[in-house]
Amino acid sequence: MEQGNVRPAEMERITNETLANAFIEEQIQAIRSQVGDKKVLLALSGGVDSSVCAALISKAIGKQLTCVHVNHGLLRKGEPEQVCEVFGKQFDVNLIYVDAVDRFLDALAGVSDPEQKRKIIGKIFIDVFAEEARKLDGVSFLGQGTIYPDILESHGVKAHHNVGGLPEDMRDFELVEPVKLLYKDEVRVVGKALGLPDNMVFRQPFPGPGLGVRCVGAITRDRLEALREADAIVREEIGKLPETPWQYFCAIPDIVSTGIRYVDGKGVRYMGWAVVIRAVNTVDAVAATVPEIPFPVLCKMRDRIVQIPGVNRVLWDISEKPVATIEWE
Ligand code: XMP
Repeated sequence: MEQGNVRPAEMERITNETLANAFIEEQIQAIRSQVGDKKVLLALSGGVDSSVCAALISKAIGKQLTCVHVNHGLLRKGEPEQVCEVFGKQFDVNLIYVDAVDRFLDALAGVSDPEQKRKIIGKIFIDVFAEEARKLDGVSFLGQGTIYPDILESHGVKAHHNVGGLPEDMRDFELVEPVKLLYKDEVRVVGKALGLPDNMVFRQPFPGPGLGVRCVGAITRDRLEALREADAIVREEIGKLPETPWQYFCAIPDIVSTGIRYVDGKGVRYMGWAVVIRAVNTVDAVAATVPEIPFPVLCKMRDRIVQIPGVNRVLWDISEKPVATIEWE
């Protein structure tokens, strides 16, 4: 392993604001001396790692940093807006927001194989990011929210960090990775000290391909929209529990079943989707158990979810990992 990629044995675990502030100061100096007066480009998904990385680099070099936020249409409700609000306004970074929703969803139309879906999402993401990078002059560095487990697990290459697959002409960038020696819990403490909002810092794990792997089978815009609404409801309602599960979300399989709606007092039969509620506890995502969700909370979610156009059924997935995986795809 590269020298700079090894966490020194004497490095103290960052558990409080004082330690976080000391780390922030140290990194600000390190970033300034690495970058000088050059420019840094960063793909900002809005996830914890890239957000903390962006906030830190922005504190160090201000407008020498440009962030690109690619909206692939598979983000959770309110996420692209929050990235624009927090980074465009609060942190006042140069933020390029790319609405690539049609490009992604058009390419995904009719594709039902999960791995094929992941490949398409990953490839278009790189294409869009590279196109934006080429429009900018004089960028020498690429900011990346690599964290220590990424280094331990993949010897420095984080597959879903996307830059691993950058085209030839973009591989000369030097990397700026200010949180690469931190564990996830430390990244969160640093994020909080930087002033990032709690719902960004304490976000649940969210797959790189986003809602794409939860809109099971071939993605359609209407089913994806129903999923996004249902997901927001589930996050809100389960989020009110005194102890929240490690991860909780919805999936929406590509099947319909019979339902009934009353129009002017008359029952009308129609076919609708089933939304699946999934909540799991785990330590490392290798195995997962299913915590009990109080029945009144399940009923509250059901009552709200069946109001979503196209949905007529709500299920609760009580499968553990193994044999099921956490995600549906
Ligand atoms: P599974 O479904 O394999 O999920 O039990 C384990 C954990 O990994 C997350 N996950 C992903 N994360 N890209 C990611 O960045 C992916 O393609 C992906 N698939 C699953 C999942 O949310 C869970 O926390």
